Amino acid sequence: MDRYAVFGNPIKHSKSPFIHTLFARQTQQDISYERIEAPLEHFAQSIAEFFSNGGKGCNVTVPFKEEAYRLAAGLSTRARQAGAVNTLKLTDDGLLWGDNTDGAGLIQDFGFHGVTLKSKHILLLGAGGAARGVIGPLLEQHPAMLVVANRTAAKAEQLVDLFRGLGPISCAELDAVRGPFDVVINSTSASLAGELPEIAESLIHPNVVVYDMMYAATDTTFNAWARQRGAYKVIDGLGMLVAQAAESFAVWRGIRPGTKQVIAELRRNMG
Ligand code: ATR
Repeated sequence: MDRYAVFGNPIKHSKSPFIHTLFARQTQQDISYERIEAPLEHFAQSIAEFFSNGGKGCNVTVPFKEEAYRLAAGLSTRARQAGAVNTLKLTDDGLLWGDNTDGAGLIQDFGFHGVTLKSKHILLLGAGGAARGVIGPLLEQHPAMLVVANRTAAKAEQLVDLFRGLGPISCAELDAVRGPFDVVINSTSASLAGELPEIAESLIHPNVVVYDMMYAATDTTFNAWARQRGAYKVIDGLGMLVAQAAESFAVWRGIRPGTKQVIAELRRNMG
């Protein structure tokens, strides 16, 4: 039985073991998958122990994704663009390969909801690690324009500078941004604190698709607000969570599990 895990701190609420256990059952892969809470100062040591004790691969979550990026001996293009690693794999040569499946998870979930991004005007709220992880994959979809808006405008500017060569991207101040946009993605952590990014109400209209990368048992603060204002479609990040996990599973096992039933099962358990 091959050993996998998710590293984070805190980690006890992680849904990854549940998701990967269902994937393994579905694809008949003989694996174990556990949660490991790495001490904040000793992530590298925890990772080294795991892989020297038979670990084959792991997911990495908050707050260790940037450290995992520095630890990896080799990186996928999407991990390099993201500046962060959420998936580590032990190669046949005994080296740690770093990948980032978050952006692919977001794109797949848009597809799952029947939303295409090609030629669309997309607004991305936030300029932290979560935003950086999805910009490359969003630009690969050939949107008409991707605008990154952040409360601290300088961070959006820095991020946009990093990705300028990859497609049509610009930045704007959060409270000054005006649409119309076809898709508004919230990558800020505002919903966690029950807060809303301060954007113009006119950005939410009957044709806009709203995606909050956060998820909760009921609508996130942002999605509840968008729904009340009559957004066309309101999606939360649960599907992205499952899709990024499926992509990691494929990186490790070479087989891509289906996500639909796993999403439904998680939703049922949360309700
Ligand atoms: P993550 O890795 O989840 O992106 P992060 O790097 O701490 O976390 O970034 C959090 C993001 O949420 C930032 O873009 C932050 O804006 P600032 O850069 O101005 O701090 C944004 N954010 C958090 N709370 C917010 C709020 N109440 N309103 C608007 N933006 C908020």
